Amino acid sequence: MKKNIIAGNWKMNKTNEETKQLIEELKPLVKDAECEVVCCVPFTDIVTARKAARGSNIQIGAQNVHWAEKGAFTGEISAEMLKELKVQYVITGHSERRQYFGETDETVNLRTKAALNAGLKVIVCVGELLSERESGKTAEVVTRQTIGALKDITKQELKSIVIAYEPVWAIGTGKTATAKDANDTIKIIRKTVRKLYGRASATSIRIQYGGSMNPQNASELMAMPQIDGGLIGGASLTAEKFAKVVNY
Ligand code: 13P
Repeated sequence: MKKNIIAGNWKMNKTNEETKQLIEELKPLVKDAECEVVCCVPFTDIVTARKAARGSNIQIGAQNVHWAEKGAFTGEISAEMLKELKVQYVITGHSERRQYFGETDETVNLRTKAALNAGLKVIVCVGELLSERESGKTAEVVTRQTIGALKDITKQELKSIVIAYEPVWAIGTGKTATAKDANDTIKIIRKTVRKLYGRASATSIRIQYGGSMNPQNASELMAMPQIDGGLIGGASLTAEKFAKVVNY
């Protein structure tokens, strides 16, 4: 049986001191969670978060990774560096990376492969812009992004991948996709995985929804048959709110 996965994406928030406090507050609130619980923190918070989460069911993730093993890539972090810090998950292809940092389907694929090679699990994000949704291109966009992200990734490696469907217009806007819309688009993503890897892989891969997911809408979203988890931005920054989503 696959286990649902709720991950917080802290984005560029929290100092070390704040990280320690948030994880400490979170631990007792999520200790009985039925799903996997992950906090994807800024690079500079990883060591503190790991230390604070020790002995708990909270796993720590990063928010980006470079594809090269090492070298002249100022400001970047390699998969080996993350591995050494005992990071379990890393996010690739977040829409903010695509939008502000020139991330393409190709670089998302390279980053994903580097993370897998180092033995990390990857949360790969896909999702359409508002203009793409309004022009009826949602299916085309998420299909292209999914195929692009998974290029040359084996069936075995796919087991270490979670896909996050995040419609860009729903991120940080308070607008959530309706549970039905999210479910329908995730079905399209799953169908793409089926075409690439077969039915068993498509059934077992976990696909999250992300975009203004919060304590009020989590249970409705999580009740949908295609939705296996959530990637939470704003609501992951306070222990109480994130715990409510985790314990949907
Ligand atoms: P919000 O939950 O703040 O909309 O952010 C979603 C997101 O981008 C998670 O990666």
